[in-house]
Amino acid sequence: MVNQLKKVIFKGFEALWSRWYPKHPEVSLQDKNLKNCKVLAHRFDLLDKLPKNGVVAELGVEYGLFSKEILQRCEPYELYLIDTWPNKSIHEECLKNTSLGERSYIQKTSIEYLNSLEENVLDWIYIDTDHTYGTTKAELEAAAKVVKPNGFICGHDYTSISYGGLKRYGVVEAVNEFCVAYSYEFIYLTSETTRHISFALRKI
Ligand SMILES: C[S@@+](CC[C@H](N)C(=O)[O-])C[C@H]1O[C@@H](n2cnc3c(N)ncnc32)[C@H](O)[C@@H]1O
Repeated sequence: MVNQLKKVIFKGFEALWSRWYPKHPEVSLQDKNLKNCKVLAHRFDLLDKLPKNGVVAELGVEYGLFSKEILQRCEPYELYLIDTWPNKSIHEECLKNTSLGERSYIQKTSIEYLNSLEENVLDWIYIDTDHTYGTTKAELEAAAKVVKPNGFICGHDYTSISYGGLKRYGVVEAVNEFCVAYSYEFIYLTSETTRHISFALRKI
């Protein structure tokens, strides 16, 4: 009886959820997109593999906690931190956590920032903004223009569901579609137990 009730509640919730968060287009990866991919345990290991002394941008920064890791592990020549920072106290916390020069903090949307750059200027980029299909697709396409031809497009949350488990993410669909359409390959995927995994792509 209890299990029956659970099933009915679950089915109702599932129907409502699918309406709130409709499915995104699904494109299957091909062998060429994956054959050189290495799995790493954690996104900090990914940072250790990325080139040092580069010109780097993190899109979606929040408190700057991952930025701190980028600074320590990758010793970038220049690091640009891009976030809309709607909350002033989070922005202030980020400034304390990272202590970079003023021009490194860019309070814009990711797309406004990417569209403001010349082509081929970044060595690598890490995307971690709103995780929707539409934003991620636009970010990847814009990143492809501003990241150097031998550079890396990286990002977080290559997963289907938000941390709280309630929101559908569109990162997997946007990344897979981008790799197939624009001939990019995965070179790293991380394997955190939360499945909030990171990716690194390069042009084939
Ligand atoms: C998950 S947090 C980033 C966490 C950070 N990368 C880390 O690993 O510690 C997402 C951030 O993206 C920002 N954000 C969301 N949509 C954005 C957009 N379109 N452009 C720029 N920033 C955005 C939010 O303000 C938020 O601070």
